[in-house]
Amino acid sequence: MRVAFVGKGGSGKTTLSSLFARYAATSARVVAIDADINQHLALVLGAEPPRPLGGMLTELKDHLRGDNPRIASAAAMVKTTPPGRGSRLVTLDDPFFPSAEVEGLRLMVTGPFNESDLGVACYHSKVGAVELYLNHLVDGRGEYVVVDMTAGADSFASGMFTKFDVTFLVVEPTRQGVSVYHQYKEYAAEFDVTIAVVGNKIQTAGDRAFLREQVGPDLLTCLDHSPAVRAMEQGRSFTLNDLEPGNLAGLQTLLDRVDAAEKDWAKFGRQAHEFHLRNAHAWANKATGHDLAEQIDPDFIFGNVALESETQAAGGRLWLAL
Ligand SMILES: Nc1ncnc2c1ncn2[C@@H]1O[C@H](COP(=O)(O)OP(=O)(O)OP(=O)(O)O)[C@@H](O)[C@H]1O
Ligand SMILES: [Mg+2]
Repeated sequence: MRVAFVGKGGSGKTTLSSLFARYAATSARVVAIDADINQHLALVLGAEPPRPLGGMLTELKDHLRGDNPRIASAAAMVKTTPPGRGSRLVTLDDPFFPSAEVEGLRLMVTGPFNESDLGVACYHSKVGAVELYLNHLVDGRGEYVVVDMTAGADSFASGMFTKFDVTFLVVEPTRQGVSVYHQYKEYAAEFDVTIAVVGNKIQTAGDRAFLREQVGPDLLTCLDHSPAVRAMEQGRSFTLNDLEPGNLAGLQTLLDRVDAAEKDWAKFGRQAHEFHLRNAHAWANKATGHDLAEQIDPDFIFGNVALESETQAAGGRLWLAL
């Protein structure tokens, strides 16, 4: 299952991504991905950042396109290019993707936006590495990919926000926080994206009541302002055992929400194709000199079925090689 944390700058996306990933990792396989322009997730998790995915786009494209005949080269592959027959699908423990092991989870990062990128690239091209990963990922129940997203409405600027089973919108109990919620709700409705609101940094019963009143049934749960998180920010060591019981219960509510989500591979495939066509028309056809609509394989079936048939094909190839 894939989960994104989005929200206003400073609302707590990185904090909640890291807490949720740690919490889920106590009983399941977890990949946490830092896809924010300000890379903080490794720091919060206490890990050395692994090699950034954003710096290995060509390798990654060559890996993922496998022997899909519709994708002639890495240069013809763009961030929205969907998998088709012959593409290489990935699972959570795929060793191709550089990661750091920390607290029982795998951390992957897009990498920072360097000064050398100014004027020649935008951060979306780095985040494109995650979009490609998510497009080719076959995940199931009981395993979680947790993505810490860019602040603000920027996370809606690419098709990436359609790649998740649940998107957690982190909202502080302020008018500004609530106005971001309204904005995101509109985007989410337009694109059939499942969002759930997580109140954060709650200090008083009044804070909680404010969010309940303003957000209504979209409010899934609230996490309190946490002295344990603050202590961690001040450099003290931190484990989940240090987290307040109410906040641990909040994390369990998030996990339950993800587990209750329906895995809809047909919708995922539809949206992947839709965003690829949009992207092709907007700039990618011109940039690559190809008609990228041809990359869509109408007979490819997204999801576990695809992985099974790929494994069978690989088995067949092995058998032929012998
Ligand atoms: N529940 C909480 N209790 C205490 N402090 C918190 C809590 N949630 C977040 N914070 C603190 O608020 C600050 C901002 O949090 P965080 O960095 O997670 O936000 P963000 O949304 O990822 O920000 P950015 O948009 O800059 O990426 C940090 O100092 C963090 O420790
Ligand atoms: Mg952050």
